[in-house]
Amino acid sequence: MYQSTIAGIGYYVPKNVYTNNDLTRFMDTSDEWIQERTGIKERRYADRLEETTTGMGVEAAKIAIERANTTAQDIDFIIFATLSPDYYFPGCAVLLQREMGMKEIGALDVRNQCSGFIYALSIADQFIKTGMYKNILVVGAEKQSFAIDYATRSRNVSVIFGDGAGAVVMQPTTEPGKGILSTHLHSDGAEAEKLALYYPGASAGKWLDKKPTLPEQELGGLFMTKEMLEDGSIFPHMDGQAVFKKAVVKFPEVIHEALSANNLLTTDIDLLVPHQANLRISQFIQKNLGLRDDQVFNNIEKYGNTTAASIPIALSEAWEQGKVKKGDLICLAAFGAGFTWGAALIRW
Ligand code: COA
Repeated sequence: MYQSTIAGIGYYVPKNVYTNNDLTRFMDTSDEWIQERTGIKERRYADRLEETTTGMGVEAAKIAIERANTTAQDIDFIIFATLSPDYYFPGCAVLLQREMGMKEIGALDVRNQCSGFIYALSIADQFIKTGMYKNILVVGAEKQSFAIDYATRSRNVSVIFGDGAGAVVMQPTTEPGKGILSTHLHSDGAEAEKLALYYPGASAGKWLDKKPTLPEQELGGLFMTKEMLEDGSIFPHMDGQAVFKKAVVKFPEVIHEALSANNLLTTDIDLLVPHQANLRISQFIQKNLGLRDDQVFNNIEKYGNTTAASIPIALSEAWEQGKVKKGDLICLAAFGAGFTWGAALIRW
């Protein structure tokens, strides 16, 4: 069996910066409220017409591929994690295959929101370990700005999220002890509706208190109705406190699980790169695990929560800043909608 290693990493963020004060033009909020509750100062929004989730993924992928000393032609599998795909279907992986002129390789989309990148990394790890693929491109990218409600009714959600993309190229290694040591994936659907975008969808409100109304004789038509557009149920819904409470339990739990699976301790971690959900959540995890400031990497103040892109963007920035060095023990961890969560331990 091979081990898989991250051979190249890169990220791309759009150039449009929106500060907290910029958001006060659209909704009743303040820089003070946003910074105090989330630690976010600004976020990037993609160009409304020109930039796509796939396009941003391509930009990040080009850098990762170059740093891995390989070419787009040599990539043998694509995994693309996103909750904001260009189309309802087909997924972004196949669109990236087209945009990068790759061979007719397999292309898979992962729909696991904030933990999407960890899930994608874990899938790539399994394919490399078995020897099935040798050069897998894993992308996390989001263009969330196109689907956010900028009215005051959604201010608890809209101030948090931002756009961007990160990518890694995974390759096999036979160097003992190097690469992905283990990945740990979990889910609990009991509170699926606490952080969700209900429509467009096929549930017809099955699990929701408020169901869409339609004349009985009509077939279909519940995918998206005028009523959904008007009442805002086509926008993301979040019970922030429920998410916070679960996240601060599951993050430390899965990190401990990953460490104990490898007979390691929190003191062995050189760098924890948590999904950038909220600075308060990251600080809570750091305190819970007893980690020093230099053991945790955060960049949410600049980009907000970029969902599936947040870990590869943060890991890439940390690497560029020299904070990820050969031999370091890197811990990645994420929690998000579903709820789903996971962790990966990497010997760099
Ligand atoms: N600006 C100003 N006021 C806001 C606001 C905003 N952007 N968003 C919410 N408020 C107001 C609410 O309307 C409410 O006002 P009221 O007391 O007059 O009714 C008050 O602030 C408290 O709202 P609440 O939703 O209870 O806030 P909170 O303390 O739970 O903080 C979050 C909201 C979203 C910051 C917090 O719950 C959180 O961080 N949760 C985790 C979310 C997360 O990480 N999601 C990503 C998961 S991957």
